[in-house]
Amino acid sequence: MDDPAFAVETDLTTQSILLAAANHDIRALRDLLRNSSANVQDDETGFTPLHAAIAACEPDEQNDSAPGQVNGHTNGDTTNGETTSEVSEERKQELEAAASTVRFLFQQGAIWNDLDSNGETPGCIAHRLGLKELYELCVDAGVRAELLLSRLDQYQPLGGADSEDDEEEEEEVEEATDAAGAAQTNTGAGDESTENTNYLSSNLTFDRNRILDGSANGVMMEWETTLMRRSAELLLPKTGLRVLNVGHGMGIIDGIFQEKSPSSHHIIEAHPDVLQRMKGQGWYEKPNVTIHEGRWQDVVQGLVEKNELFDAIYFDTFAEDYKALREFFTEYVIGLLDPAGVDGGSGRFGFFNGMGADRQVCYEVYNKIVEMDLFEAGFDTEWETVPVPDLDSEREWDGVRRKYWVLDKYKLPTCVFID
Ligand SMILES: C[S@@+](CC[C@H](N)C(=O)[O-])C[C@H]1O[C@@H](n2cnc3c(N)ncnc32)[C@H](O)[C@@H]1O
Repeated sequence: MDDPAFAVETDLTTQSILLAAANHDIRALRDLLRNSSANVQDDETGFTPLHAAIAACEPDEQNDSAPGQVNGHTNGDTTNGETTSEVSEERKQELEAAASTVRFLFQQGAIWNDLDSNGETPGCIAHRLGLKELYELCVDAGVRAELLLSRLDQYQPLGGADSEDDEEEEEEVEEATDAAGAAQTNTGAGDESTENTNYLSSNLTFDRNRILDGSANGVMMEWETTLMRRSAELLLPKTGLRVLNVGHGMGIIDGIFQEKSPSSHHIIEAHPDVLQRMKGQGWYEKPNVTIHEGRWQDVVQGLVEKNELFDAIYFDTFAEDYKALREFFTEYVIGLLDPAGVDGGSGRFGFFNGMGADRQVCYEVYNKIVEMDLFEAGFDTEWETVPVPDLDSEREWDGVRRKYWVLDKYKLPTCVFID
């Protein structure tokens, strides 16, 4: 392995694969990938074959910059992101060849969300360049990969642990897991917010317009107020209803729920600093308010056993992954939400929809996955699009470790039981 000749050969193979991908030369790729992987990466640019195949479609400025396309955003009727009437035959062929190459690479196990040295996934490049079909191929591949990952996550080998068949099966699962999700977007090493229990024992800082954890991650920020207000309006359309909120944070949504004079208002909160602050702010004395101290994982079963029913449930915790949200709505919402909640219609469930919101392509992948999982759990989801202002220009992220939101549109979910 230390042989320099071997390193040169590997590098040459990588460069040949990247070149074939950029040329949309499937025949050459097929040959090259017989003895190599569709996930090689250029040392300098971090490009994978998918990045190369998509980036090669960037219009050449003097020649074929597409009208109707500004900074990768498109206006009007589009094919692959460009105004249909204006796309030359040559350009159409190039984009079709790129789409075939991208499909071929996915068939060969290419990872949808590897990052290049600019921090872009292949889908991010397609989005930036306004290449709609290539972008959709990346979203679809992301959905397939993430679904596979979540299924594998539930996988339990059958039979005794040491049978040869089981070992082989486990190896296959490991390989599939690597291919599907090896490059899941990193949330940052040494970061307390990646583990719920670490977060819960970290010290919080409360500013006027935000809460930060011990690693300077934004736990909750005031810019989300518009999203909280709209969620509350949709969940509690009138006064006197019963509501459960999981995760108090800055108390923004709980404050808005209070404006609706709920007949019963339960709040589950686990962080001691937040609970301390709630005491100081008089939340424990508010009429019809019940506060459950602890992790929702330790509280909700008790509510189910007491037959507590709600017209509306909102879920917005912190430092938890998508699996936690899915567990909450598949296992518990079903037992806590009144099927005959609001005006004879089903009760309503909402949640902060922020998974993957540091990249458009990841956000779309998660939106599709969560909608499918909600459907499987028995819910219909309505989405409302809410504009989000430019948080960079408003300097919202100053002093915050990681931007958890970079998009200009929030997709607000409201879920009811399927009829
Ligand atoms: C993003 S904030 C909620 C913001 C809230 N929606 C608002 O309007 O201000 C998340 C809250 O969930 C709490 N939390 C995190 N993990 C939790 C868990 N497992 N159970 C209960 N609460 C949790 C955090 O301490 C934090 O107060």
